[in-house]
Amino acid sequence: MKLPQTVKIVEVGPRDGFQSINKWIPTDLKIEIISGLISANLNRLEVTSFVHPKAIPQMQDAAEVVHRVIDGYKGMELIALVPNYTGAKAAWEAGIKEVTYVISASEKHNIENVRRTKTESFADLRNIKELLPELTIKLDIATAFGCPFLGQVPVEQVLQMMEDSLKLGIDEVCLCDTIGIANPLQTESLLVKVITGYPGAKLSLHFHDTRGMGLANTLVALECGITTFESAIGGLGGCPFAPGAAGNIATEDMVNMLEQMGIDTGIDLPVLLQTAKTVKAKIVQELSGHLVSMC
Ligand code: COA
Ligand code: ZN
Repeated sequence: MKLPQTVKIVEVGPRDGFQSINKWIPTDLKIEIISGLISANLNRLEVTSFVHPKAIPQMQDAAEVVHRVIDGYKGMELIALVPNYTGAKAAWEAGIKEVTYVISASEKHNIENVRRTKTESFADLRNIKELLPELTIKLDIATAFGCPFLGQVPVEQVLQMMEDSLKLGIDEVCLCDTIGIANPLQTESLLVKVITGYPGAKLSLHFHDTRGMGLANTLVALECGITTFESAIGGLGGCPFAPGAAGNIATEDMVNMLEQMGIDTGIDLPVLLQTAKTVKAKIVQELSGHLVSMC
């Protein structure tokens, strides 16, 4: 088995995780969890999203979260998800240097999620590149492995989005299994096409574990040469605009698997588990993560 020596884990719990929780999480508690993640050596984090407060009320304290994390911790790579130029501008003004811009491979999911067509989303992405040229942009291709409304998403649509985003000068593309439907063979098949088609592209992967295939897909992706993965503390996560979507791979389960295989993540697992336990005690009692369920 050909495996990398190191892997970079990007923590998305404070964004993908918190957005799926209806009950208000006080800003202080959000900061407590983010601090715990940082203490475990996670230094690249999606900390919030700049979205319409009616669409996701949980994210209405985005600017305050960003200010407090910037003030409290130096040297962190902080990312905020944005659905449009309005969000990107607000993120930039709050001090964010890198955004996740989301467009779905599935037209129907894009309309449900961000209320516009893919073409409209790409047009706004062009605006962001032009009007905020110093902002680093990671493009999340949502529903890259399947759509909750249409089922299969043709691979050609994902490849076309790779093409369009690289032409625009996007810094990184993250292939997202929004509804946790990918299987290992499908993962390999898509990755081979993307990597051979776009060998220079900086790629990352974002698996949900809805059907228990998240770590199996991760293993296949490692063998394909991917070394950056997104995951969420405790296995939180899920898109509120994708029916049936459940949590991301739990960060602590991912770290455990990788470290057990001799792959260095730089993450302190015992400290991370403490934070997962805090999430369990204070936010969601039934977490899908395996290790935290044993605590
Ligand atoms: N943050 C806050 N307000 C925003 C905004 C943003 N990112 N984008 C637009 N708005 C405001 C506009 O300023 C406008 O305000 P006004 O009525 O006071 O003039 C209003 O929202 C309507 O703007 P419009 O462009 O028509 O937006 P919309 O109502 O079609 O909503 C989104 C589109 C994308 C902003 C909204 O659907 C959204 O925030 N979705 C969140 C998606 C998400 O987070 N999904 C999960 C992660 S993948
Ligand atoms: Zn997700």
